[in-house]
Amino acid sequence: MSRAGIEAGMSTSPRESIAIIDFGSQYSQLIARRIRENHVFCEIFAPSVRADQLRERGVRGVILTGGPMSTYDGAAPQADPAIFSLGVPILGICYGMQLTCQALGGSVGAAESREYGRVRLHVARAESILAHLPTETSVWMSHGDCVTRISDDFIPLARTENCPVAAVRHRDRPLFGVQFHPEVTHTPLGSQLLRNFAYEICGCRGDWSTGNIIADAVERVRRQVGPDARVICGLSGGVDSSVTAALLQRAIGDRLVCIYVDNGLMRRGETDLVDATFRGHFGVHLRIANAGDRFLSALAGVTDPQQKRRIIGREFIEVFRDEARRIDGARFLAQGTIYPDVIESGHGPGGVTAAIKAHHNVGGLPAELGFELVEPLRNLFKDEVRQIGEALGLHEDMVWRHPFPGPGLAVRIMGEITPQRLELLRAADEILLEEIAARGWYRKIAQAFTVLVPVESVGVMGDGRSYEGQSLIVLRMVETSDFMTADWVRIDHELLAAASNRIINEVRGVNRVAYDVSSKPPSTIEWQ
Ligand code: XMP
Repeated sequence: MSRAGIEAGMSTSPRESIAIIDFGSQYSQLIARRIRENHVFCEIFAPSVRADQLRERGVRGVILTGGPMSTYDGAAPQADPAIFSLGVPILGICYGMQLTCQALGGSVGAAESREYGRVRLHVARAESILAHLPTETSVWMSHGDCVTRISDDFIPLARTENCPVAAVRHRDRPLFGVQFHPEVTHTPLGSQLLRNFAYEICGCRGDWSTGNIIADAVERVRRQVGPDARVICGLSGGVDSSVTAALLQRAIGDRLVCIYVDNGLMRRGETDLVDATFRGHFGVHLRIANAGDRFLSALAGVTDPQQKRRIIGREFIEVFRDEARRIDGARFLAQGTIYPDVIESGHGPGGVTAAIKAHHNVGGLPAELGFELVEPLRNLFKDEVRQIGEALGLHEDMVWRHPFPGPGLAVRIMGEITPQRLELLRAADEILLEEIAARGWYRKIAQAFTVLVPVESVGVMGDGRSYEGQSLIVLRMVETSDFMTADWVRIDHELLAAASNRIINEVRGVNRVAYDVSSKPPSTIEWQ
């Protein structure tokens, strides 16, 4: 990725914002989403971020997250001490509260009794961060350490049975801490607490609205691309690339050219939908590369899943490059990178965004293609991407689509990929999705699909036992919030029955249907 691309994706917006310093909490992204749900922009940083970097960005407040270490452990991540003198309000959560109290003269140690799960909070002073809270409420705890002593500069605000200092504030400075987790839904009044912090304490007014997000992104794209250059956008039909294209169209109109590579491994109707949406509805310059034959010949005889992925990746780049070469004056490439991708790969502002985890959905076209990247969704969470997609006029079927892997149906056909197997899988897949939609399950499922397992199991067809050419179709439906862990959906049995009957009756070559009841880990979502 070019440096310019990174800078352009950075928030240089004058809008009010809150910095979240991530000490390794599993909830850091959740904190950010809660703040943004309250219409305040925020960004996640690694502990190495310095106070002067935050000052430069004009942050209105700082949140220090929880973390798995003990603050008194020598190797534990620390915040730049100058952050406590920045003058902007600071809210420490769990580890973040312990760090704050420790940095200002208090002590932290192992709790006499650890607390995990729902706990009663007794509020002694319903003020500042705890304003509008009742004297008793339930909160979510997850800690083995606690603040064992606070300096005289701090005032305790609340306690639980096993945690005498469950919330604090500094007497004179805008420093606050809570031992519990306001960001999780198991703390019912947590959102009120975060709102108190953002609005009443940091003085935010809430300017992070759909309209402003679009206006900011459009402005930034125009600034980056200038008045003449053209931008290429690789459309996959997924939510992120579709919203990117719709946004680019808003920003630069017909200087956008979209390329859609039909690799022959798509679901039924996929290419037509992209065509109808973008060429038909938005009037976008869309080039469809019909490269199915090329991909299928390259995949002939290949059964190893990683080899399939490599071939598909290589062919994609070549087909894309050939198409892109035919577009005059294109210097930029638009990509649908979204904020979790940025955080997970640690490529954030000034390299100090927290790196949470690497994920194979991150990636895209190689830098050697020589384009400067335009990434207008770089600061956005998926729910924000969907909101702006709807506001830009994308149909809700497009905006709420389940993710679909780059290698498409190739990783859902065990063994060799042939045109017959692809057709069979497309037919089964279409039936499953129809049944899901008809019964109102689509939005309750994160991802649903069918897998073709071409092993011959016995069946009774007509009067005899039949083995020949009969395959197993597996239904996979999962729920997950981040695709890192997932569980199988406790789906309505009637839906299973209807999908199974229809697949066996309507799809030639299938005599058995099974439902996959494995969670991730240890299984993955895809079968290959
Ligand atoms: P797994 O199977 O690893 O999938 O649990 C997690 C998410 O990633 C998608 N996936 C892929 N996406 N290229 C992609 O672009 C791939 O090779 C690939 N493999 C899995 C999968 O559909 C799920 O959403």
